[in-house]
Amino acid sequence: TNRTFTMLKPDAVENGHTGAILDKINAAGFRIVALKKTQMTKANAEAFYAVHNERPFFGELVEFMTRGPVVAAILEKDNAVDDFRTLIGATNPADAAEGTIRKLYATSMGENAVHGSDSDENAQIEGNFHFSGREQF
Ligand code: GTP
Ligand code: MG
Repeated sequence: TNRTFTMLKPDAVENGHTGAILDKINAAGFRIVALKKTQMTKANAEAFYAVHNERPFFGELVEFMTRGPVVAAILEKDNAVDDFRTLIGATNPADAAEGTIRKLYATSMGENAVHGSDSDENAQIEGNFHFSGREQF
């Protein structure tokens, strides 16, 4: 088995898309290992997206990710990281393929509805950022 980590971002949660997005994730064959609605502090978001801290949009990204609750989840499926990134589509929804989660639910490059880990190593780090060991089944 193989795992990835996702967050439904504040725009998706605010817009009432949590259920529909979780449905698409299930329909694509992912098993939900861990799931919670939570809100990140500024320090949490800065740590989570530390890899982007030199980018011009970093302040905007942290502001956005902390403006409301997110839904965090660990997902399991063969080839989880790559298959999940295919399911969500390109970072910019204007470039996202038809039927992808970002094509359906994202509003802009900044407010793009969902996060997906970009490697097995980051999936592990990001899952452990939000969930303790005994929350991961
Ligand atoms: P994540 O799954 O959220 O990591 O997205 P990604 O892997 O498709 O993109 P990347 O890691 O390169 O960027 C992380 C996030 O920063 C994106 O999902 C966007 O929310 C945000 N972001 C990236 N580029 C821009 C930008 O040019 N402007 C703004 N406002 N936000 C950006
Ligand atoms: Mg990324």
